Amino acid sequence: MKNEEEQPSTRMRSRVDDEGKQALTGARTLKSTRELPEAINACRRCSLWKSATQGVPGEGKAPSGLMLVGEAPGDSEDLQGHPFVGPAGAMLDRALEDAGMDRKSLYITNAVKHFKFEPRGKRRLHVKPSAGEIEACKWWLEQEMRLVSPKLVIALGATAARALLGRVVTIAQTRGSALPLSDTTDLWVTIHPSFLLRIPDERRRRAEYQRFVQELTEAHRWVNGN
Ligand code: URA
Repeated sequence: MKNEEEQPSTRMRSRVDDEGKQALTGARTLKSTRELPEAINACRRCSLWKSATQGVPGEGKAPSGLMLVGEAPGDSEDLQGHPFVGPAGAMLDRALEDAGMDRKSLYITNAVKHFKFEPRGKRRLHVKPSAGEIEACKWWLEQEMRLVSPKLVIALGATAARALLGRVVTIAQTRGSALPLSDTTDLWVTIHPSFLLRIPDERRRRAEYQRFVQELTEAHRWVNGN
């Protein structure tokens, strides 16, 4: 029979078990966005963590009147551990600047926190997260919403809109209207900045970019006026 010092007490054992379970389910309620990187890295709510380098939490001001939500980290985000630091992030930064904003003045995150990809030679090609992965990761989005307490959330693309509304919507259906997420938070849906990178026609690309900048400008004004 082991002596008392060698045997973990029942209370200690159950705390260790709880922590293990919380990491698996992401059941920990966070007190600050500073806890996100570690907590998201330990998340096992879906299987995307297995092939990703790390979890990518949201970043920026918290609380903040404005929160932007993208789809999921891409290759650069997965390697660097920060949201929107690749080509789509450069496009977003440019649009924010043209709208008179700075990313440090708002909160930016993704609907899904781990990179999903298909290896293709030496490259890792982005794959859209599934409905189950979006649903599993909603836990983190809800924690971020609680900690950031935004007046306005902008869904960048259909995956973010789906995560926030809990149903499939199209950009065409939802763009241009304010959808209530709660008594204190509205949702606007717009394009994902990577869409702008894929438009081959320059005139159309410029027009779409201007429309996106206009939406960000209006969002900035709306948040400051409400
Ligand atoms: N696309 C996203 O949706 N999020 C990122 O962080 C980067 C690219």
